[in-house]
Amino acid sequence: MNRFPPVSPFPRTPRLSGDDPEAKRREIRAYFHATFDRYERLFEVLTCDEAYFRKPISLRHPLIFYLGHTATFFINKLLLARLVQERLNPRFESMFAVGVDEMSWDDLSETNYDWPAVAEVRAYRDRVRAVVGQLIDTLPLTSHSQGSPKNDLTPSGGRSGLGADLGAQYSLPIGWEHPWWPIVMGIEHERIHLETSSVLIRQHDLKYVRPHPDWVPCRLSGPAPGNELVPIPAGAVRLGKEHDDAYYGWDNEYGRHEADIPAFLAARHLVSNGEFLEFVADGGYATDAWWDEEGRAWRDYARADHPTFWLRDGDRWKLRLMLEEVAMAWDWPVIPRVPCSTSLAMSGSGPRPHLPLRRLPGAPLYDDFTTPPSTSATT
Ligand SMILES: [Fe+2]
Repeated sequence: MNRFPPVSPFPRTPRLSGDDPEAKRREIRAYFHATFDRYERLFEVLTCDEAYFRKPISLRHPLIFYLGHTATFFINKLLLARLVQERLNPRFESMFAVGVDEMSWDDLSETNYDWPAVAEVRAYRDRVRAVVGQLIDTLPLTSHSQGSPKNDLTPSGGRSGLGADLGAQYSLPIGWEHPWWPIVMGIEHERIHLETSSVLIRQHDLKYVRPHPDWVPCRLSGPAPGNELVPIPAGAVRLGKEHDDAYYGWDNEYGRHEADIPAFLAARHLVSNGEFLEFVADGGYATDAWWDEEGRAWRDYARADHPTFWLRDGDRWKLRLMLEEVAMAWDWPVIPRVPCSTSLAMSGSGPRPHLPLRRLPGAPLYDDFTTPPSTSATT
């Protein structure tokens, strides 16, 4: 008997616009609960409490942090927006607020955290779900909506927990100044961590994970397809999201960056594990010329000589998936842990010595937004 209830289709990110506020409310309500549910189902793959407290990799917090983190993110953002007035759990909302910068491997603090029990964090998540759910149920989507918002789930008991100045005029679509923006932000943040937490779980010892019907891997694999380099002509590239875009975006997606890009070659397909094997077998990891300074520092720290999820099995390779090890899927895209400039130079069939290392056109923007810690989009 399947002990898991059937999984409903995972809703896509809603459009920010709409003509019917109540229909938008229903859409975002379903989007929130489906996302919150799916994230909690990810942690159901863990076999025991120890799996939450043992770090999968030294550069990141243990998984208990990530279970709490996405919930505290909601409360911390809603407090900033004054949509709730009081903290649910000041200790959790500090402890689970900030993750580890993976690029700071050389100065990682070994601080011992006094993590709470798994059951405590799950209970906290239930409270956050109730607060956010009630906000979604009651907060007007337009300033001329009927009814007054209320939130009686904060520690203030029956008093209104809402502190936002909702006197300002607002309407759909939901934009940066709209009171629903931090709600959508919290849901999108949870979706980001679906990916990051699943990658950490993929690096956990196999004894800490088990198969789960919601997380069944693709079983299709075959020989790696032929690939080729396609010439891309020189041209101007414009990056950036417009402020009236139909979908939610993080702060570093907005603005505008234009660059003139000289002609270059790009692989027609994603680089497969099979293609990348040429690079590995050719000693690509040990060849400094293929690595920029940052990449070399990571490579040396990690003592990497092959992709993270490749496993040696005698003279063969296996592939670690999130919950199991399988025979190498040579036609699947490789997931190398290398800086983008290096991967760009290697795209195609193995290394291309005649290609200059070239950063992607968005690299200056990326640097701008990753050097200082972001206050509004910390992931
Ligand atoms: Fe985060």
